Amino acid sequence: FRFKLLLIVMATMVVQEAESFEQGNFKKCDQSSFCQRQRNYKPERSPYVAVFSSLRSVTDNHVYLDIRNNDNNIPFTLDIYALEDGMIRLRINELSPIKPRYEVPNTIHDVGVQNFLVEQNPQNQTITLRLSNNPSVSAVVVCDPFRLDIFDDQEPVFSINSRHLLKVEYLREKPVPKPPTEEHENLDNPEEVEKIEETKEDKPDPDDEPGMWEETFKTHRDSKPRGPESIGLDTSFVNFNHVYGIPEHADRLALSSTIGSEPYRLYNLDVFEYDLNSRAALYGSIPFMIGHNAKRTVGLLWLNSAETWIDVDSSEDNKGVLGSVFSYFAGQENVPEVNIHWMSESGVIDIYFMVGPSPRDVMRQYTKLTGTTYFPPKWSIAYHQSRWNYKDEEDVKTVDAAFDEHDIPYDCLWLDIEHTDGKRYFTWDTLKFPNPIKMQDDIAAKGRKMVTIIDPHIKTDSNYHIYREAQAKGYFIQNKDGGEFKGWCWPGDSAYLDFTLPEVREWWASQFTPDIYKGSTLNLFTWNDMNEPSVFNGPEITMHKDIKHGGGWEHRHVHNMYGILQQMSTVDGQIARSSGNERPFVLSRAFYIGTQKYGAIWTGDNTAEWGHLEFSVPMLLTIGLCGISHCGADVGGFFKNPDPELLTRWYQAAAYQPFFRAHAHIDTSRREPWLYDEQYKSAIRGAIRERYELMPYWYTLFYQSHTTGEPTMRPLWYEFPKDTELFAKDDSFMVGSALLVKPIATASTWATQIYLPVTPNCNNGWYDVKSYQFFPSPNTISMATPLAKIAVLQQGGTIIPRQLRVRRCSALMTHDPYTLYVALNTQGKADGEIYLDDGHTFDYKKGVYNYKKLTFENNILSSRSLNTTALWETSAWLERVVVMGTQQPSTVTVEAAGVTTALGYSFDKNLRVLTIRKPGVNLQKDFTITIN
Ligand SMILES: *[C@@H]1O[C@H](CO)[C@@H](O)[C@H](O)[C@H]1NC(C)=O
Ligand SMILES: *[C@@H]1O[C@H](CO)[C@@H](O)[C@H](O)[C@H]1NC(C)=O
Repeated sequence: FRFKLLLIVMATMVVQEAESFEQGNFKKCDQSSFCQRQRNYKPERSPYVAVFSSLRSVTDNHVYLDIRNNDNNIPFTLDIYALEDGMIRLRINELSPIKPRYEVPNTIHDVGVQNFLVEQNPQNQTITLRLSNNPSVSAVVVCDPFRLDIFDDQEPVFSINSRHLLKVEYLREKPVPKPPTEEHENLDNPEEVEKIEETKEDKPDPDDEPGMWEETFKTHRDSKPRGPESIGLDTSFVNFNHVYGIPEHADRLALSSTIGSEPYRLYNLDVFEYDLNSRAALYGSIPFMIGHNAKRTVGLLWLNSAETWIDVDSSEDNKGVLGSVFSYFAGQENVPEVNIHWMSESGVIDIYFMVGPSPRDVMRQYTKLTGTTYFPPKWSIAYHQSRWNYKDEEDVKTVDAAFDEHDIPYDCLWLDIEHTDGKRYFTWDTLKFPNPIKMQDDIAAKGRKMVTIIDPHIKTDSNYHIYREAQAKGYFIQNKDGGEFKGWCWPGDSAYLDFTLPEVREWWASQFTPDIYKGSTLNLFTWNDMNEPSVFNGPEITMHKDIKHGGGWEHRHVHNMYGILQQMSTVDGQIARSSGNERPFVLSRAFYIGTQKYGAIWTGDNTAEWGHLEFSVPMLLTIGLCGISHCGADVGGFFKNPDPELLTRWYQAAAYQPFFRAHAHIDTSRREPWLYDEQYKSAIRGAIRERYELMPYWYTLFYQSHTTGEPTMRPLWYEFPKDTELFAKDDSFMVGSALLVKPIATASTWATQIYLPVTPNCNNGWYDVKSYQFFPSPNTISMATPLAKIAVLQQGGTIIPRQLRVRRCSALMTHDPYTLYVALNTQGKADGEIYLDDGHTFDYKKGVYNYKKLTFENNILSSRSLNTTALWETSAWLERVVVMGTQQPSTVTVEAAGVTTALGYSFDKNLRVLTIRKPGVNLQKDFTITIN
C-alpha cells in the first residue's frame, strides 16, 4: 500500500501528499473549527427556551413547541413523536432558515406510531407526554431553559440539555466585509430584526468566530459556501456508568471518558495503519449509543450523516448531579451518569430514544428503525481466502487445489485490484486472467465462489466504458465551481460516481449482469473497498467537503453515507442479475446506519500485531451492537508479516467471529496455511474445521439475526445483563447464547483465566466443548491453551447443532447429517433452535425452510417446528446426540411419525456424557428422543 502510493505520488510530483498518510495528519478537534466552537460552548444556563403556550398536537402521535434562543432571538421548532415499542423521537430545526438544512433521507424505516397522553403543568411550565400503549414511558419537557427527560417506570433514563449544551448554528448570509448585514431578513418580525442589529453594533457578534466561513487543513482550503451550520447537544444517560457503540474506533468495548483528551470522531476515512486505544475516526460511522446498567439497557440514535465528534463524560464529578434533580433518586447519593456531547457539522437535531429495558429489547427497537441484518448466503459465513493479490488464473488454480490437498475447507477465493485491466473495475487483466469464466466455473464446480473488488473511483479514460458512459450521463461528482471532480486513487486520475442520485445507483446496479460485466458469472460476488471515499490527494485522504452532489448538497452533508449508497446499489445489481432468486453478498469497508440490511463489513487495514488481534474483539462487538452482525477483521493482519503463532491464534479467534476472511497486503509474504510447519498448519486447519462443524449453529444465528436484529457475536453482558463484572469485559465474547469464547491474543500463552458468569436463579454451569469437562459458575477457571486449543465453553441449558463430516466447502454439506450437543443445566434442562434451508436463494421467504425448537426436559429431547407451514425438503438426518451432564440410562428410544425405535448409546461415567448413536430421523420432521 505505502510502496504503491509513493509511486503514484512521485509520478505526479505531489510530494507533499506523502505526509498525509501519516497518522498525525488526520484532524484533531482543535483543527476542526466547528468542533472547537461546539466544544468550547459552556454557558451557565442554556439560552434555549421552549415556549409553553406554543404547545400543540400536530397529530395524536406528534406534538409541537416553539423554541427560542434568548441570546439572539433565533426561533426553532421542537417536534416530539410517539413511536411504537416505547420509542420517542425528538427533532429540533430552525423555524425559518434562509435555506433548508440538510436532513438525512431514506435511513429510518417507517415504524408504527402511538398516541401521546398530554398533560400540561402551567405552574412549573412543564409538559408530560405519556405513551398510550407503553404508559410506563414518558417524556417531560421543561420549558425554561429547555430540557427533556425521558422516564420508564418513573425512573429517569435520559436527560437532554441538562448540561446546557444545545447549540444550533443558524444559517446566515455571508457577512460582507463591512456591516450592515442582512442575515435576519427572513424573520417575520421586523422589530426583532432591528433589536438584533442594534445588539450587533454594540458588541461584536459572538457567533462570528474564526473558521465559520472558510478553513484550511494542511494544503486544503474548505470554502464553506453555506457558512456555519453545526449542531450540538448533550444527552445524559441517567444512572448509568457504562455506554457502548458509536463505531468505528480501534477502542475498547465500554467507551471511556474523553474529558481532557480527543472526542470520539465519526467521519469515514481511509486510515493507514491505524493506532489502537484511539478515538480517531476510521472507515465507518454509526451514531448509535447504548447505555447499560444492572437494571436496564437503553439506546439512542443521533441521526446525522456529517462529520460528528462525541465527548463522553463519565467522570466522578458528575455523580449525583442529575440524581439530585429527580425525586426518584431521593435519598440516594452518587447516582452515576454519563454525559454525552454530540457535535455534528451540519443537519438538524434528530434523535431516537429506546428505553429497552433488556439488551434484546434495545436491539429489537433499534433494528425496527434501521433494519435487521440481511440473510447472508451460507457460503459467505464460512471461510474466505483473500490476498492482494492472487496473481493469475494459475495462482488461483494452485491455491484452490492446495486447500483440497491439505484437507482445509474454504468457500470463497478473492481477487483484489490487480485482477483488473489497469484498475478499471468490471474489467480483467487479460494476460493474467484470459479465461475468467472458466476460472469461476472450475471453482464453482467444487461448490465454491469468487469475489472481485469493485471500488467507487473510476479511471478517467475515455476508452473505458464505465467512465465513458457515466461521463456522458453526467453521473460523476462535480467540483464546487463545476466540472468533473478528479482525485487520485488506485488507477491514478479518477472520477467518483455520485451514488446519492437514484439514477446513478440504478445504472451502477445494471453493470452487474454477466452480459454487461464481461467475464463474470453468477458465482462471482463483490467487494466495495475505498468507499469512504478514499481520495489519495484529498483532505484527510478523502473528498473535499465543499464538493457538490447532484441534489445540490455539499459532500460535507452526505459524507458518512457515501459508502453505504455504493454497497446498496451493488446489492441491487446482484439481486437483479439473478432475477431476484439468489441472495447477494457484498463486503464494504465504509459503513453507516443500516449497513446491516445490505451486507458485510470488515475492520479495514489492520496490522499483523498481537494488539490488533486483541482489539478485533471489542471492535467487532461494538459493530454488532450497532446492528451489523456480519463483520470481521482480516485474519493475520493486513500489514506486515505475522509470525506463525500470531497467525494461528488469529485463525482461532476469527473461526468464532461472524465474517471469517484471511487477507494480506501485496508486500507481505505468502501466508496460506500450508506454508507453515506442521504444528501451525494443523492448528490452523483445526480452527477452520471447527468453523465448518459449527456452521449449522452460525447459520441458525444469522437467520435469527435477520429476523430479530440480535447480533451473532455478543458481549458477555448482553447475555448476563445483571453481572456487573462483565460491563467492561471485552477479552471474551459470546457466539449466540450458547458459546463463550476466550481468544488468545498474547504470545506464548499456554493457559488462560476465563470468567464464567451465571444467570441469576439458574445455576447453569459450563462445558468445555472439546473435553466436555463441566465447570460450575460463577467461577474463574484456568484453562490450558496449547497451540491447537481454542477456549470455547458451552453454557448449561443450551442445545447447539454441528455437522461433523467436514468437506471441502459448506455447499457440499447441505444435506449431510447433523449432531446435536445438549448441555444440561443443573435442573437437567436445555433448549435451542436449528434452522435449515437451501443456503443461497430467497425461497425461505416463501416458507421453504425448517425451523425447529429443540427442548430437553424430564429426560426427553424433542424437536418441534416453529412454523408448521414452512417446509424445505432435505435428506439431512440426525446422526448423533451428545448429552452433557446426565445420568447413565437403561434405554434410549426415538419416536418420529408414530414409529418408535430403540437406539444404541455409550455413556462416560466420569464426565457424565451420553452419546446417542444414529437416531436416524430426518431433520425436517418433528421427533422425540426418550432416555430412561
Ligand atoms: C410540575 O408540576 C406537576 C403538576 O404539579 C408535577 O406533577 C411535576 O412533578 C412538576 N414537574 C417538575 C419538573 O417540577
Ligand atoms: C410460516 O411460514 C409461512 C410460509 O409457509 C409464512 O407465510 C409465515 O409468515 C411463517 N410464520 C412465521 C411465524 O414465521
